Amino acid sequence: MDSREDLSRYCVMDDEDQVIEPAVIVVFGATGDLSLRKIFPALYNLDRMERLHPQTKVLGFARKNHSREEFVGLIENAVSRFSHMQPAQPEVLARLAARIDYFCGELDDPEAFARLASLLCDPDLPANKLFYLAVGPDLFGPTAKRLAEAGLGSADRGACPGGTFRRLVVEKPYGSDRTSARSLSKTLQDCFSEHDIFRIDHYLGKETVQNLIYLRFANSIFEPIWNRNHIESIEIDVLESGGIGTRGGYYDRAGASRDMMQNHLVQLLCLTAMEPPASLRPESIREEKVKVLNSVRTYSKEELLARSVRGQYGPGKFADGSETAGYRAEPKVASDSRTETFAALRLEVDNWRFAGVPFILRTGKALDRQMSEIRITFRRPPSTLFQGHCGDKLAPNALTIRIQPDEGMWIGFNAKVPGVAVIDVNELRISYRERNNDYFPEAYERLIGDALAGDPTLFIRADEAEEAWRLVDALVEAWNEGNAPLVIYEAGSSGPALPRP
Ligand code: BG6
Repeated sequence: MDSREDLSRYCVMDDEDQVIEPAVIVVFGATGDLSLRKIFPALYNLDRMERLHPQTKVLGFARKNHSREEFVGLIENAVSRFSHMQPAQPEVLARLAARIDYFCGELDDPEAFARLASLLCDPDLPANKLFYLAVGPDLFGPTAKRLAEAGLGSADRGACPGGTFRRLVVEKPYGSDRTSARSLSKTLQDCFSEHDIFRIDHYLGKETVQNLIYLRFANSIFEPIWNRNHIESIEIDVLESGGIGTRGGYYDRAGASRDMMQNHLVQLLCLTAMEPPASLRPESIREEKVKVLNSVRTYSKEELLARSVRGQYGPGKFADGSETAGYRAEPKVASDSRTETFAALRLEVDNWRFAGVPFILRTGKALDRQMSEIRITFRRPPSTLFQGHCGDKLAPNALTIRIQPDEGMWIGFNAKVPGVAVIDVNELRISYRERNNDYFPEAYERLIGDALAGDPTLFIRADEAEEAWRLVDALVEAWNEGNAPLVIYEAGSSGPALPRP
């Protein structure tokens, strides 16, 4: 479907009354990797789709001494390299450039924040502000504090009043365990109201991830079988073929469990397992997601060891053919590092719907493929007819939801092979990507648009972040205290297998 075509014949879910107000978007860490690869290309795409208010301005805040022109040049270059909407259109680039200004300052300098406040209080600028913290995680709290000290906290508390909002967008990682996440929330909530804090998990902005709610609840065929009576197991895989690149400094402290499982995999788990929400209002959905996390069974350390595996890539070849001497040889990684680059965990959501159904979460780097998907395997039919004869050779029906790449879904059915009495699996496939290739927005586009519109549905609530940490803290503690083996797997392989139940 062309997103610009007449939508009158479709069921349109967007809130037609939603008003996108003008705002100043202040990007902290404006010359960093995240800003250049994701945030500014997303702003360009939003501008191109006419989803930014004409009066919206963008202020890049960073340490480097750039002129406005140099900064605009950086952004134009980044858009041309990283926007998915190519080629970049000169008139949109010019429109974006006209919105942009640059502010040179240090994040630990109160004087810089005082200057920022007096600049932002200019009555000629939109009164609403969106502060985007694209900085290191140790700077989330201190930057929010400096903003509040300069009178730029939530609109109801600050100096230069006016406008309807002052919002804070916070990147990941959100804390490094439950305690630090809680204390970060406390710091942020001292400066901004919870409803003004937008915690990012970019997986939630992916179209295929948003589609999970549509797929489950806008169809009537799935819901009756979406439970322990019909489902045998659910596997959630986020597998990456690349290594950790130049991110060793951060990654060696985080590992796959904190970097991926606590956020992206847990979010996929929540959307797959949650009950139908009472409405599509943000709080209804977020409430149901938290309930899933509350229902994840608490395991003893021994149980966790038996249900999980941690691995680290050793020497081998990446999928692109390049070679690696292994994780421990990566820059800024300790040569005796025990950080996991692969984590898998089998858990159960102990509620009425899913009790007894194993959920298998798996993520890793330097694997033989780059692929994220959710696979729902249904129980085999009763044994009377084919099952009795074929046993395990009769494939169970499985629904696969491919998050990326080749976004789509398919379901496997058993069917007769013509000419012989043989059963083979036939797949019914939908390529979500091909059907919608005309405009397939990137996660950051959606998330920045939603933060500007004040819609928190696709952002993480404080209690949700804490509950997700509860799972990961227990796993990491069990690994460390139980001296779990660290399986060294060959880079480019499929990674270690989970112990059998
Ligand atoms: C980030 C992790 O959150 O997600 C990275 O820090 C990971 O380690 C990335 O590579 C994966 O995101 P995507 O969108 O490329 O699947």
